[in-house]
Amino acid sequence: MRLACSAVPGLRPSPASARLRAGGLAAPRFTSLSGALLPDGGKAFQPGSVRASFLAERAAYTAPMLWVKTFHIVFIASWFAGLFYLPRIFVNLAMVVPGSVAERDRLLLMAHKLLRFTTLLALPAIGLGLWLWLGYGIGQGPGNGWLHAKLGVVVLIVLYHWSCTRMLRALAANTDQHSHRWFRWFNEIPVLLLVVAVALVVIKPF
Ligand code: HEM
Repeated sequence: MRLACSAVPGLRPSPASARLRAGGLAAPRFTSLSGALLPDGGKAFQPGSVRASFLAERAAYTAPMLWVKTFHIVFIASWFAGLFYLPRIFVNLAMVVPGSVAERDRLLLMAHKLLRFTTLLALPAIGLGLWLWLGYGIGQGPGNGWLHAKLGVVVLIVLYHWSCTRMLRALAANTDQHSHRWFRWFNEIPVLLLVVAVALVVIKPF
């Protein structure tokens, strides 16, 4: 659901959008989420606060770009489904009663299959993000610290994925010493990384 800025209390069309409207170009429309959520009545979107690069980026918002972004988000969500569930299997593996070979083998098989699938999903998720950045130029140039910070978070997500690979290898070799409680805390890390990455790209705070 999209709202023209005039429909949100406290938001007035910015001089920039008036100029765009006069020039025959469609004025940028704020998504309801950003406008409605801001407690200060959207003060951040007051006239003059619209980032010049935001208007420049709007030019990149073509239909093909929006399809690329659609699949970027779809593969990100799928990648994270794997990153959320894999450590959950590690919790169960750490709780397997010694001697329960069948249960242990079943959990290890599930984990190996899931890790392979999750790694396959990470590639298009990152590839499509790079296409948005390097191909469509979104996030390039001054005033896009959000993307640099986001890339930092992406490095942490990839490191987390890699550490899951190492832990599964150690669990399979029966050399991993982590307790099921440790794996429960470990399982919370991708939640934090996802919140930070999505907040950076949606809010673009700097
Ligand atoms: C190398 C990795 C990545 C790059 C280069 C990248 C780059 C981008 C770019 C340029 C956009 C378009 C932003 C816009 O239209 O304003 C975008 C959108 C998005 N990215 Fe990524 N991204 C990457 C990884 C990720 C990851 C790991 C996540 C989540 C954890 C993520 C979540 C999102 C979301 C939710 C959007 C849509 C934002 C919106 O429409 O407002 N991206 N990404």
